[in-house]
Amino acid sequence: MRIEIITSLNSGSKETGFGSHLACVNVVESMERMGHMATLSICTSLNDLDNVSKRKPDLVVLAEKYMPVEGGNDIWFSEYFSRKKITFSGSSRETLKYDSDKVSAKLHLRHAGINTAKYFTAIPGQFHSENDLPFLYPLFLKPTDAANGNGIDDFSFVQNFGDFEAKVLSLYNLYRLPILVEEYLGGREFTVAIIETDTGRMITSAVEIIPPESTEGLRILGAEVKKLDTESLKIIEENDIKNIVNLAIEAFISLGVRGFGRIDVKMDDNGKCYFMEANLVPGMNLGTSYFPQACKIANGMSYDKVISLMLEECLSRVIPKSMLANSQSIENRSLQMH
Ligand SMILES: Nc1ncnc2c1ncn2[C@@H]1O[C@H](COP(=O)(O)OP(=O)(O)O)[C@@H](O)[C@H]1O
Ligand SMILES: [Mg+2]
Repeated sequence: MRIEIITSLNSGSKETGFGSHLACVNVVESMERMGHMATLSICTSLNDLDNVSKRKPDLVVLAEKYMPVEGGNDIWFSEYFSRKKITFSGSSRETLKYDSDKVSAKLHLRHAGINTAKYFTAIPGQFHSENDLPFLYPLFLKPTDAANGNGIDDFSFVQNFGDFEAKVLSLYNLYRLPILVEEYLGGREFTVAIIETDTGRMITSAVEIIPPESTEGLRILGAEVKKLDTESLKIIEENDIKNIVNLAIEAFISLGVRGFGRIDVKMDDNGKCYFMEANLVPGMNLGTSYFPQACKIANGMSYDKVISLMLEECLSRVIPKSMLANSQSIENRSLQMH
């Protein structure tokens, strides 16, 4: 198969994606080992995308959700390739919004009866005193639309109105969007890598993530921890795994995720599980990303095995060119007959 891996290499992005150039190269090399003709296409303009579609690859693997356009609207790769009728990996534009906008994912799942932390949103000056807050401390403040721990640190954990106002202001100055304020979940943290095969079978790999304890005595997976790689990943004991995996699968299905995704789950102090967020273009760095690491720790899968399973569902949607030629000649014949 001729496969192009599409990225804008927008490394400053606060959004999820396979990761740096190196992570994309890891994916390309793995596909080459499987005998595919895989290339990395760095697309930074509509013209670059048009050139990809002119080459008519059998499949495009989207390493990012969209390409930022200066002074214009972002171009969402899934939308673009869907219009060009080129088979692409991962979820549709409609589902990817749940990855970019945590509030929309939480709203959707709450309606579906799936546990997610209580929340409200806030902009600076919206609440005049703690009596105005919909519920009280401890609270956890984070950006609505960021990933990779961006904007998240010990100041996200809030126990008084002064700290609440300060974190709302600092996040708002950075992200210019209402801030997501959640009830603080004080329990353990997990991530579940899910791969759906062409037959609809879900392969789940769940691990516990243990961030290092901060000087404030907190264990938060913020940007600094992720950058320094100081968290540890651990296999989950038998009696906990069912609730965690079931919640992740329910969220995966309810959000309409296609092919693969990573669902973050957190427990409260009583061990009850909550959906935290969906990562639908998960990091794919061979050595450090949670998705391949979870597959290895939970199911002993090699990196190549993970990539081949992710490709399986995509390739089942690729209509072989021979069949396409066939159906076109049938169409032409029936046109001629009328
Ligand atoms: N409601 C919460 N209570 C406690 N900790 C939280 C809560 N929400 C997020 N966190 C902590 O912040 C980290 C990042 O949050 P998350 O929503 O997964 O954002 P990101 O997209 O940056 O990964 C989590 O991995 C967890 O450690
Ligand atoms: Mg997360």
